[in-house]
Amino acid sequence: MFASQIARVEEIVNEQNEWRGHCLNLIASEQVMSRRARAVLGSDFAHRYAEGHPGERYYQGTDKIDTIETDLKRYMKKLFGCLHTEVRPISGTNANEAVFSRYIHPGDIVMANSTPGGGHISHQRAGSVGKFTRNIVSFPRTKDGYHLDVAKTRRLIRTIKPKLVILGKSLFLFPEPIQELCEVCDKVGARIVFDGAHVLGLIAGKQFQNPLAEGAHILVASTHKTFPGPQRGVILSNLPAEEWRRIDKGAFPGSSSNHHLDTLPPLLITTFEMLAFGEAYAAQVVKNAQTLAAALDKKGLDVQAKQFGFTQSHQVAVDVSRFGGGSAVSSLLGENNIILNMNLLPFESLSHHDNPAGVRIGVQEMTRVGMKEAEMQQTADLIAAVLMDGKRVGEEVKKMRAKFQKVQYSFDDAK
Ligand SMILES: Cc1ncc(COP(=O)(O)O)c(C=O)c1O
Repeated sequence: MFASQIARVEEIVNEQNEWRGHCLNLIASEQVMSRRARAVLGSDFAHRYAEGHPGERYYQGTDKIDTIETDLKRYMKKLFGCLHTEVRPISGTNANEAVFSRYIHPGDIVMANSTPGGGHISHQRAGSVGKFTRNIVSFPRTKDGYHLDVAKTRRLIRTIKPKLVILGKSLFLFPEPIQELCEVCDKVGARIVFDGAHVLGLIAGKQFQNPLAEGAHILVASTHKTFPGPQRGVILSNLPAEEWRRIDKGAFPGSSSNHHLDTLPPLLITTFEMLAFGEAYAAQVVKNAQTLAAALDKKGLDVQAKQFGFTQSHQVAVDVSRFGGGSAVSSLLGENNIILNMNLLPFESLSHHDNPAGVRIGVQEMTRVGMKEAEMQQTADLIAAVLMDGKRVGEEVKKMRAKFQKVQYSFDDAK
């Protein structure tokens, strides 16, 4: 019974492994782990529970995971130079919820980036913040749409006195003005939460703003976008111990029970990789994004934020409305083994979400497998060939990818 169905499941997994291994994977929120990080997935830890903290669990049998989790916290603190780290959230959204649940009460005012402004759904009414309050005010933006308007935001904070100011976003090209908002936030008693889900690997590699050093109170993030680990979340902070304990309770029991132990060992291996190679990796990511943006611009595509040098992160945003919009373009590129996603651009309203003007491109995964500036030029050529010349390039993409199969910036080749 079910033999053929199970065989089909196995076949699909193999097909996925093979297929995405020969694509240009350019989704800005995705990443691959090193061989050695992947090798420790699927262990006995996948079956176990370990509620609580190392050394003070509610179950027996947790000695081994206690060692892993204790080391993970220690090396995460070293990597980010902070006092506290919470590694139990199982995703970025789960980490956000752990924090939001401790700070936001019904009726409180929260400020965040709107969805067209690049903000994440968990910062909106429909997402996590919306479970705690409906008073969510979007940051005013500058005319170009990719920056927060500091003067207007300061004025607004002074007037409406938000409880939380949530910086960081999903379409995230440039740093946020943390330092510029610190004083006014302090004055009105607002905590600054920086959602670094997308840019955590760039922060670790010292190629993006350091939110905690610039004055953010809490850094929340995913561990699997530019940070090249398994799919989990993390919370980092230098807050006083008493306030940190509230967040700790937000993670457990507030927003999780068991915390998916299986992905802790690979996260520890990835943390070692980032301590050793993070700066080189993150520098190449930013260089690659800037090279790809300039190359696409040269091809005549409408790459966003040109006046600001296109990007300072792993992402590139392109207005593709003249090719039918983000939905049509991402499907067409997908048929050619170039995988990216459609994205609202700042000048659009939410009602465009089914076919927004933009696509978002992330170069972090292809950088991790060793692509550099020459391959970014080639990637721009391939995208332009599909969109502007109507060519089919799937086979060319396969050939290009064949040379980039091994994860770099890792200990995979070490004995
Ligand atoms: C800014 C931001 N925060 C949070 C998240 C959620 O992360 P996760 O998918 O790990 O829950 C995302 C996801 O892409 C994001 O872009």
